[in-house]
Amino acid sequence: MSDILEVLKTRRSVRKYKKDMVPEELLDRILEAGLYAPTGMDCQKTILLKITDQETVRTLGLVNGRIMGREGMDAFYGAPVVISVLSKNTDPIAVYNGSAAIMNMLDEAASLGLGSCWIHRGKEQFETEEGREILRRAGIDPDAYTGIDNVIVGYADGELPKASPRKAGRIVEL
Ligand SMILES: Cc1cc2nc3c(=O)[nH]c(=O)nc-3n(C[C@H](O)[C@H](O)[C@H](O)COP(=O)(O)O)c2cc1C
Repeated sequence: MSDILEVLKTRRSVRKYKKDMVPEELLDRILEAGLYAPTGMDCQKTILLKITDQETVRTLGLVNGRIMGREGMDAFYGAPVVISVLSKNTDPIAVYNGSAAIMNMLDEAASLGLGSCWIHRGKEQFETEEGREILRRAGIDPDAYTGIDNVIVGYADGELPKASPRKAGRIVEL
């Protein structure tokens, strides 16, 4: 069994990926980790959209890059997989719930030796016509769900970056 604190301390955001696809059984574990994140009042309104079709991953990455103001940039850094987290519009604490799922998935990916990164602008990306079309293709009603953010996953191309030193004074005691 992995030491959880060790995984938390060694997980790093990866921004360069090999093209190799991640095996289904590893993706299943990452998704399961996302499903087991806590949700407020156990509402479980968060959903996880796994995208492995390369054309769709790249389209969404470009949409995301465009929202960032970087036309032509793949904001998913060439990762072969993106898991987009969305929530029902009826969830008033969707961002908290979605963030818990994202962290579980990033940490599970790290424990499996995979690279991953949290990618923002999930809300805006699914408000674009391209994003809404992707949701429709997945059978998700774009008017009933709001994007939260994304987890990209793949095999890191190169060494993992080093963690930045932790800033002092962030634990306060009374
Ligand atoms: C809310 C949130 C949004 C983030 N969005 C992005 C993003 O859009 N693109 C990106 O490359 N990294 C993104 N990151 C990753 C952070 O930049 C990264 O966690 C930070 O630099 C610390 O590095 P580490 O994850 O390796 O510890 C995001 C992280 C968080 C928590």
